[in-house]
Amino acid sequence: MAGAGGKRNGKSIYVCTACGAESPKWAGQCPECKGWNTLEEGVASPVPAAGSRFAGYAGDANQNRIRNLSEVSPEQRSGIATGLPELDRVLGGGLVSGSVVLIGGDPGIGKSTLLTQTLAGLSGDLKTLYISGEESPEQISLRARRLGLDCGHLRLLAETGVERIIALARQEQPAVMVVDSIQTLYTEQLQSAPGSVAQVRESAAQLVRFAKQTGTTVFLVGHVTKEGALAGPRVLEHMVDTVLYFEGEAGSQFRLVRTIKNRFGAVNELGVFAMTDRGLREVSNPSAIFLSRHEEEVAGSVILVTREGSRPLLVEVQALVDESPLSNPRRVTLGLEQNRLSMLLAVLHRHTGIAMFDQDVYVNVVGGVRITETASDLPLLLSVLSSFRDRVVPRELVSFGEVGLAGEIRPVPNGIERLREAAKHGFRRAVVPRANAPRQAIDGLEVIAVDRLAEVLDIF
Ligand code: TYD
Ligand code: MG
Repeated sequence: MAGAGGKRNGKSIYVCTACGAESPKWAGQCPECKGWNTLEEGVASPVPAAGSRFAGYAGDANQNRIRNLSEVSPEQRSGIATGLPELDRVLGGGLVSGSVVLIGGDPGIGKSTLLTQTLAGLSGDLKTLYISGEESPEQISLRARRLGLDCGHLRLLAETGVERIIALARQEQPAVMVVDSIQTLYTEQLQSAPGSVAQVRESAAQLVRFAKQTGTTVFLVGHVTKEGALAGPRVLEHMVDTVLYFEGEAGSQFRLVRTIKNRFGAVNELGVFAMTDRGLREVSNPSAIFLSRHEEEVAGSVILVTREGSRPLLVEVQALVDESPLSNPRRVTLGLEQNRLSMLLAVLHRHTGIAMFDQDVYVNVVGGVRITETASDLPLLLSVLSSFRDRVVPRELVSFGEVGLAGEIRPVPNGIERLREAAKHGFRRAVVPRANAPRQAIDGLEVIAVDRLAEVLDIF
């Protein structure tokens, strides 16, 4: 690509992709965090001239002075609705002008689809610009037609040079701009190939500056590397205002968009979509979509009431416990933290005497959901026990609760709301921390309140 032959303006430095440490020369190991092979080429930032437009993100440097906080009136940050309430939810209420949103996810999960739909929806009222470094205008047009979108006003540019993109965008003056994807861009300031961390970082930095100066809302699409991190791992997340991340299994039609970082709203908010043959459709009442409907009851399966973002979600946790041929048995988790599983198994052994040191333990959260809260502890142990003892947990039972190292069952936030949601979906029994038990009975739901792990052994 043209990036390799570009002329070099800035002086090169080497930046650690893991910790961000800078070093004047390349080395195999980062002198700061001791990571191997993490140093990548970057541009030394030129010292801004006095009064330079680039002096700071806050706008004109001359206007900056020290003030009382009370003198500063908050800017109107009312977000512009995108037309997709589930997307507005993860953005913290809509689009903010001048903000940069990074959308990450596996290839093929639906990033381009979501942004094409969003831009087409907005293009009636706002100036929008879709910049594609991956697909030709014909391919994008084909997708838009398949989605049945009316995008007469959606402007399009197929380009990968970031300097040229910014120059054209300055003329075009869009209110919302999508760059798909950041990994395909290159800047003339660097010699490394497009997609390298240095290129991604510098290209993104230029686009962030452009967004702040012009008030354009910029979406950056980012692919995920093998390790599961956005290429240019930490550095990109620090530069942007909002980081959204697609989750979900390739086999499932559901797509979750999670807020990882947001300067304008809460994190861990979840937006739920379903991929259909006409693009992404919103799932506005998603609490029960991940309940798998097997006909027969199976050991090792427990329904958890989690609360990701601001909504309760019923998900199935499955465990398989099997005699291990290994001297160091396996502890495998999908959708949960592996260290947490090891810790919970230790608590189980210490406080109930049930040992798993000769067993492989596999745990999976159905539907590709990632559980980030400790409310999964108790259902996780219930599913492990169920599989280990080959005893079925009744299908009408749900659970949530944190398990402490002393074998105590600790409460989690919003217990009543979780119980109501379970009752709404027809569950009849709930095993929950005592402190989460409601004072007033919930119709149709028997609440089994527990204080200690040992008490749950006789429940099923
Ligand atoms: P895409 O948005 O191109 O993914 P990304 O930009 O994240 O790489 O989505 C591609 C996938 O979505 C592809 O496997 C086909 C599927 N798809 C549908 O199922 N229905 C549709 O209407 C569209 C446009 C795509
Ligand atoms: Mg794409």
